[in-house]
Amino acid sequence: MLPGCSADEAESVADKFEESKTVVDELGLYKGKVKIVSNDDPAEEIMLLWGIQQPIYSKPNAFVRQSSLQLHLDACGRSLSILQSPSSLGVPGVTGSVMWDSGVVLGKFIEHATETGTLHFQGKKVVELGAGCGLVGCIAALLGAHVVLTDLPDRLRLLKKNVEDNLYGNVRGSAVVTELTWGNNLDPDLCCPSPDYVLGSDVIYGEDAVVDLLETLSDLCGAQTTVILAGELRNDAILEYFLEAAIKDFVVGSIDQQQWHPDYRSQRVVIYILVKK
Ligand SMILES: C[S@@+](CC[C@H](N)C(=O)[O-])C[C@H]1O[C@@H](n2cnc3c(N)ncnc32)[C@H](O)[C@@H]1O
Repeated sequence: MLPGCSADEAESVADKFEESKTVVDELGLYKGKVKIVSNDDPAEEIMLLWGIQQPIYSKPNAFVRQSSLQLHLDACGRSLSILQSPSSLGVPGVTGSVMWDSGVVLGKFIEHATETGTLHFQGKKVVELGAGCGLVGCIAALLGAHVVLTDLPDRLRLLKKNVEDNLYGNVRGSAVVTELTWGNNLDPDLCCPSPDYVLGSDVIYGEDAVVDLLETLSDLCGAQTTVILAGELRNDAILEYFLEAAIKDFVVGSIDQQQWHPDYRSQRVVIYILVKK
């Protein structure tokens, strides 16, 4: 609930804010409704996200079990089996050795959006940032995209294994794994030609990381690139910091949960679309 408000007052403030937002019928390659975050909005957007969705009251890691060695998930007519390394999670700086909810939400969102015709991946170039265990990139390849899954140089072993183990036989697209540290110079193959899509789940989680992430997004994206990020509602200050910085160079909009996969919706996750201004 919003601070100092009754439930009814909070709902009415939220409704007014929602009504005041610009909703567009498409943004970049996403052909569904998107609520634009305007330049003055980030602080209010964050306050209301936390106020309305109340992320602290919903279960974290609802779609993953981070203590398991494997995550099983059906997608694109296959039974995917994603290896995790729970013991590595204790190593400082290691976060991608297990799956996070926003990865499952984003993977199932792109599958669902392809089925409903709001996204098309066939033949498209996709770069995934901070791919971790690789679920999202694998799903994009199964949907027909040519995907480059990227992560920090010392985080690629598990990622490569998951790509090899899950993308066997008749895959509509393709996938390769390569290193990419945000903020570093890009390998020309990644940005020439610029990707159709850049995907990332749970990659907004620290102020330094946000600066580097946005630098990489700016370098990677061309005028035709659509960025789809799924963020976890974990730290309001970091998400606000990200939005404030991102809207300087990108049109940013959110996709409401009605458009997500019906079985993979979470009050702790938000999906943003970004397109270069
Ligand atoms: C919280 S994990 C999310 C992993 C995966 N996307 C998911 O949703 O399960 C964040 C990912 O970003 C990667 N990462 C963090 N900082 C990075 C950086 N500076 N450059 C590249 N990747 C980075 C981590 O290695 C990790 O795989």
